[in-house]
Amino acid sequence: MKKNINIDDYSNQIMKTLKKGVLLTTKSGDVVNTMTISWGALAIEWGKPMFIVFVRENRFTKKLLEENPEFTININLDGSYKSVLGFSGTKSGKDVNKIKELNLTLEDGDQVNVPAIKEFPLTLECKVIYKQKQDITEITDDNKSRFYPQNVESDFYGANKDFHTMYFGEIVASYVVE
Ligand SMILES: Cc1cc2nc3c(=O)[nH]c(=O)nc-3n(C[C@H](O)[C@H](O)[C@H](O)COP(=O)(O)O)c2cc1C
Repeated sequence: MKKNINIDDYSNQIMKTLKKGVLLTTKSGDVVNTMTISWGALAIEWGKPMFIVFVRENRFTKKLLEENPEFTININLDGSYKSVLGFSGTKSGKDVNKIKELNLTLEDGDQVNVPAIKEFPLTLECKVIYKQKQDITEITDDNKSRFYPQNVESDFYGANKDFHTMYFGEIVASYVVE
C-alpha cells in the first residue's frame, strides 16, 4: 500500500533527515543498488518539483544512473535503520548486493522502473531530466582541498579525488509505503 503525499507538507522533514542520511536507489536491468547520501536539494526548475543528487565519478550508483536515468529517494523519518545507512554508505554495489545483505524489502515503483524500500518508506520517484558535471574551476580552493583530496583513491567512500556530477530528478511521484 502507498499513501500519496504532497511534497510541500514534508519538505522540512525531508531536509532535516537528509543531513543524517537517506538512500538513493537505482536500477539497471535486474540490478538494484542503493547508497547513502547526505547532500541533495529539493528544488523547483522549469516549473517542476525536483530532487538533485550529487554523485562522485566512481560510485556504482553513477554507472546505474547512466544506464537508467531514474532513481528513488528513500527516507526513514524516525531515524531507525542507522546500520543500513552505515553499510550502504561504505560498501559498494560493485562488491556486494546491498539490498540482499541488508534484507531490504522492495516495492515496485509507480512511475519509474526503480523500486521503493519499505523500511525507508517516504519515497520520491525521480526521472533525470538534466545532469551536469560540476565545473572544477568554479569550486573554491577551500572546498577543493576539503572535499576533493587528490591523494585519496576514488574507491574510498568519503572525500576523495573524484568530483561530483549533479543529477536533476523531476519528482514524478511521492508517497509513503505502508
Ligand atoms: C552519511 C553519508 C553520506 C554520503 N553522501 C554521499 C553523496 O552525497 N554523494 C556521493 O557520491 N557519495 C556519498 N556517500 C558515499 C557513498 O554512499 C559510498 O561511497 C557508497 O559506498 C557508494 O555506493 P555504490 O558504489 O554502491 O554507489 C555518503 C556516505 C555516507 C556515509
